Amino acid sequence: MSASQMTVAVVGTGYVGLTTGVALAYLGHHIIAIDKDPRKIELLSKYQSPIHEKGLQELLTTARSKITVTPDYEPAAEADVIIIAVGTPPKQNGEADTRFVEAAARDIASVLKADRDYVVVVKSTVPIGSNRRVASVIEKVLAERGVVTRVTFASNPEFLREGMALHDTLYPDRIVIGSEKDQAISTLRKMYQPLLEQTFDAPSFLPRPASFPLPPLITTDPTSAEMIKYAANAFLAVKISFINEVAGLCEKVGADVLEVARGMGLDSRIGPKFLQAGLGWGGSCFPKDTQALQAIAGEYGYTLPIIHASREVNARQRVLVLEKLQSALKVLRGRTITVLGMAFKPGTDDVRDSPGMELMQVLLERGVHVRGHDPIAIENARNMLADMDIKWCEDVEESMKEADAILIATDWPEYKHLPWNDLVKHMKTPVIVDARNILSHYDFDGNVNYIGVGR
Ligand code: UGA
Repeated sequence: MSASQMTVAVVGTGYVGLTTGVALAYLGHHIIAIDKDPRKIELLSKYQSPIHEKGLQELLTTARSKITVTPDYEPAAEADVIIIAVGTPPKQNGEADTRFVEAAARDIASVLKADRDYVVVVKSTVPIGSNRRVASVIEKVLAERGVVTRVTFASNPEFLREGMALHDTLYPDRIVIGSEKDQAISTLRKMYQPLLEQTFDAPSFLPRPASFPLPPLITTDPTSAEMIKYAANAFLAVKISFINEVAGLCEKVGADVLEVARGMGLDSRIGPKFLQAGLGWGGSCFPKDTQALQAIAGEYGYTLPIIHASREVNARQRVLVLEKLQSALKVLRGRTITVLGMAFKPGTDDVRDSPGMELMQVLLERGVHVRGHDPIAIENARNMLADMDIKWCEDVEESMKEADAILIATDWPEYKHLPWNDLVKHMKTPVIVDARNILSHYDFDGNVNYIGVGR
């Protein structure tokens, strides 16, 4: 087993699993990508990416000879490392549902061969202690089968952002491995060696950032690794909610939150990132993970007031933006409002827990004629709100004609560069609620009612 040629099975080809698998294949490993979803298998068998993610299709095409796609677990028996990257959706009570993780563990254990070395890695974001649970499930099934083999376990959380998933995988800030076994740590160190030492040729479409420092490998115990993932996401969510809370006060006192964030962010202890005030956070991670962390704390009779407050501020942010529309138009019923941006953030077609999508539904309930546009997420948006009376627009300029107001819900760069002064001329009333602060009142001449957040 050389450093550059390990066999790695990845169970689950969602954002995390697929990106990890494709990146590891690009680094030279042989990848067995396992998924039960026939749609994904069909697409991936033709080396077509089921998700929109920058560079993913190109890398999938480049590394195709290293990737085997299958709905079956049997090929995983030939792997050195088996990565579990299936979803952990929220249960009704907010806890992360580990059913799919445990099912994957059982399926893996049912195919492992005798007298071999395997490392089983949990990459899914899972409640504290899940790593131990996966180990016990696998050991139990192996005992039932009477198979004696050597399996070590590790928790290896993922920190990639959607829209930047491959970039974050190839150029990580750090790699975290939580394991009690040296065997697991040393195998994963070998698997990640090309990333740790950055020995691979950077793809032309995903260049290595200038002055990129080699990423440190953090080795720790599994519980701390699981906690690092939740704490990092919760901290980022708190940071955004903090600036959103400040934004509200900026509006009251007449300050500009962009200036405030810039001045704060230059303090190296604070840093400039994740200080963009706006419509708050959405997506499949922050809402779910902050809720799951609260559920974990609850199990121990402990409370997380800061994280709790960040969720409240986040929910309020959507209401405040709605109030901006209301106070500009006075009466919402019967108005036509165009919502720009269905994706929960730019660079992705993911509409899960998208603030813009939620506002659309509230506007509909208030009797508004709602139009929706997104550069790439329109199909997912349409599928999600299929039974709702929304006019989906492919053409952004058309979507604004005769509208009473525009709500910018996602900070897509293409929205920034529209010929705004021409477009507003075709609106019924020129109200722009820029819930992501991508424009400023300086971009408009004349009588446009431009309303940002925190300015
Ligand atoms: C987040 C984390 O950033 C990743 O490190 C983590 O791996 C991932 O969750 C995960 O757990 O899988 P992601 O949800 O893809 O990544 O997107 P982010 O870029 O973090 O944005 C999350 C939300 O916060 C978006 O709705 C975005 O619009 C919002 N946001 C972000 C702000 O409102 N302001 C900001 O300054 C930054």
